[in-house]
Amino acid sequence: MKLSVRTVNTSKYPVLIGDGILEQLRKRLKESRKLKPKLFILTDSNTNRFCLPELLKHIPELEDAIVFTVDTGEEVKSLRTAEYIWKELVSHQADRSSLLINLGGGMVTDLGGFVASSFHRGIDTIHIPTSLIGQIDAAIGAKTGVNIDALKNQVGSFYAPKGVYVWPGFLKTLPVEQLRSGIAEVAKTALIRDEQFWRWLSRKSLQKILEIPFSENFWKELLLKTIRIKLEIVRHDPFERNQRQLLNFGHTIGHAIESLALRRETPILHGDAVAAGMLCEGFLSVQRTGLDPLQMAEISNWIIRGFGKLPLLQEDEAVRMDMMQHDKKNRQQKIRFTLLTGIGKGKINQVCSPDLISDAFGKYYTL
Ligand SMILES: NC(=O)c1ccc[n+]([C@@H]2O[C@H](COP(=O)([O-])OP(=O)(O)OC[C@H]3O[C@@H](n4cnc5c(N)ncnc54)[C@H](O)[C@@H]3O)[C@@H](O)[C@H]2O)c1
Repeated sequence: MKLSVRTVNTSKYPVLIGDGILEQLRKRLKESRKLKPKLFILTDSNTNRFCLPELLKHIPELEDAIVFTVDTGEEVKSLRTAEYIWKELVSHQADRSSLLINLGGGMVTDLGGFVASSFHRGIDTIHIPTSLIGQIDAAIGAKTGVNIDALKNQVGSFYAPKGVYVWPGFLKTLPVEQLRSGIAEVAKTALIRDEQFWRWLSRKSLQKILEIPFSENFWKELLLKTIRIKLEIVRHDPFERNQRQLLNFGHTIGHAIESLALRRETPILHGDAVAAGMLCEGFLSVQRTGLDPLQMAEISNWIIRGFGKLPLLQEDEAVRMDMMQHDKKNRQQKIRFTLLTGIGKGKINQVCSPDLISDAFGKYYTL
């Protein structure tokens, strides 16, 4: 399956999804080999161990590539690591004709994309996302970035890769909690844009979904449906001026919950924070944008059954509110949300008062 997207610089890049796509990449690399004498692959230590051998099995010619391996984890997505990779590129005489292949989850594709966007003012890069979040979200849409200390994605660029190759087989070695995290983003994508997709997904419980073998068509369909929506949104709004903000549903509150947990050194899974965020923002949607309470109950049942409930404390409400106010996506101290008017229908830029937000948290505590 091949999709394509018009990118920020109006050139198109292919997004290929499916079983045979690594062979297609092999063909493409062979054809362009003369033009790209210097091939580099960026991995983290997990994707080096679990995904690189698989990639080399499909594309043996990549044995000659120079591989950079960084540690795992969000703290690695930093300017310091970017500098390390730039220096490695220099020491291996990388030049404008070089190609950097990013093999990994969102951490690797964000970091590698950023490195490529600024090395020699931009070298070619290809994303081969290996986590579910990478495959449906991070590698799609041309955003790159690194963190500054605990502040996420403070420095970055919009930089289109030459292609994105989504091979479902990589998901086989992904830890189950990472898969769960990805499913929260899939659910979000369905909820903001496509009621039928939501019905298709929520027919099965999260637990059942996690038991489905990766060889089954379900996963390809899930990838395709989610990626198609993300592509359609970013095609219309590459720079996140309006409609791309739809993708923030569940994330304003989710980020505050995640950041607070991180600050307290009790990190939680991104997907669990987004699941709690979608519930709170769902309650806001009932009050603010007219989401039918019956639809809210349906969303809430599926999420609670799959993701459970986080032990959020009422006494943390002020600090969560403060974090939301300082979110880089907000302006003039007003907290803006993407909410739902119905299942499959998101609405951006909804300002909610502290009282309304507090009320939504209150509903979450008593779920
Ligand atoms: N650019 C964007 O538009 C965008 C969108 C969403 C998220 N992101 C970024 O993506 C990152 C989160 O992505 P993520 O969840 O993929 O994080 P990640 O890259 O840290 O991967 C999560 C864990 O899974 C491991 N892993 C990945 N693929 C594996 C595989 N196939 N087998 C075994 N282990 C594997 C990684 O080593 C890591 O330990 C964050 O930095 C976030 O800011 C960016």
